[in-house]
Amino acid sequence: MTLPHPDFSEHRERLLAALPSDEAVLVFGGPLRRRNGDADYRYRPDSDVWWLTGWPDTEVAVFIKPGDAPVTMFVQERDPTAETWTGRRAGPEGAVATFGADNAFTYGELEAELPRLLQGVRALHYDFGRSHEMDKLVQTAIYRAGRAARRNGLPVPETFHSLTKLVHELRLVKSANELDILRKAGEVTANAHMKAMKMGRPGAFEFELESAIENHFRAIGGTGPGYTSIIASGDNANILHYIVNDQQIDDGDLVLVDAGGEIAHYTADITRTWPANGRFTEAQKKVYQVVLDAQHAAIDACRAGRTFMDVHDAAVRVLTEGMVDLGLLQGDIDELIESEAYKRYYMHGTSHWLGLDVHDVGAYAAEGTSRILVPGMVLTVEPGLYIPAHDEDAPEALRGIGVRIEDDIAITDGDPENLTAAVPKSIDEIEALCQGASA
Ligand code: GLY
Ligand code: MN
Ligand code: MN
Repeated sequence: MTLPHPDFSEHRERLLAALPSDEAVLVFGGPLRRRNGDADYRYRPDSDVWWLTGWPDTEVAVFIKPGDAPVTMFVQERDPTAETWTGRRAGPEGAVATFGADNAFTYGELEAELPRLLQGVRALHYDFGRSHEMDKLVQTAIYRAGRAARRNGLPVPETFHSLTKLVHELRLVKSANELDILRKAGEVTANAHMKAMKMGRPGAFEFELESAIENHFRAIGGTGPGYTSIIASGDNANILHYIVNDQQIDDGDLVLVDAGGEIAHYTADITRTWPANGRFTEAQKKVYQVVLDAQHAAIDACRAGRTFMDVHDAAVRVLTEGMVDLGLLQGDIDELIESEAYKRYYMHGTSHWLGLDVHDVGAYAAEGTSRILVPGMVLTVEPGLYIPAHDEDAPEALRGIGVRIEDDIAITDGDPENLTAAVPKSIDEIEALCQGASA
């Protein structure tokens, strides 16, 4: 299968077009992290480094400043012995030949070279606080550049911006190429969910579904799950980040599956909730339909010119009305919203940006005002209702039901584009798919 590939040079061009000539960006990818004993986690590239260069390895720094040779990379040097043990390295030569660097050095040279690069930079875009070690290195480099400035009079960074200000603003609005990749991630993830819906049956274990889903993500050549998969049967669905996935599914259980696969490190994020035995009970149907109606209302608010909060508000209104109809809450809808009483059964936000990070970068508000949606933004819409088995205030028939429905929506000039629409979500379609499978 040919998978779409990011156009990293386009990202650098967008950054350079937006970056004033006396400002620079510095991003880095850290070392491998220890998992246990002497085993490491598999390295997942830092999303900013990846977005700018496609560099796949640890210990990398990327410095970008407008000019004749704008991109400088620091990467692990070639080392035949190390490469025998841990894999091939492109080295500084490869960084220039293949990854868009104009100049490249070894990672070990960063400390010596950074003071020179910072001369002439008035404002540095760098995320302080992420790595103590990098912060120390950057602060020392600024001090050294300042010492040199006493003689050469060049500006040195006195203004600092977090990556949110520019790099993450650019990442927030996806290019046509990035949208293609996210469409593919959506399609692959949709197929994985449908596979799980066909497989799921009373008596199966949650981990069987997890393994089938994650197998699919890798089998098609994706970079794996974008976050830890949630396979929550029955009352487990009322634990928002349930990831142990070790229980046996009971007859009559709903199964909430929240899983997303990455393509070239861009992730999808889908949730579906469906009956293990292929038939919703009447109580499950009622709760499910409220969440589905809320999701439709919220997706309809995903339009250029509306705000990020409009999407949440649309979901909250329908969910709160539903909570009253279901007998979970009593009172006036506006008051229940105003007092946030609905949070008892709907305690999370409705959306987050989606891209290289599942909770992708980009500000949700500016100066206290919710962000206006523009074409190219991609966000999830994921309302839910969670009624724990131990909730003695809830009508008995509803206890232990947890439902979330999540799709990935691209903002366009016109109607919202649902990147994950291929997985059924109406009650009839879900029952047909789940029953077709077990037959
Ligand atoms: N799976 C993480 C989320 O839905 O936000
Ligand atoms: Mn999500
Ligand atoms: Mn999710």
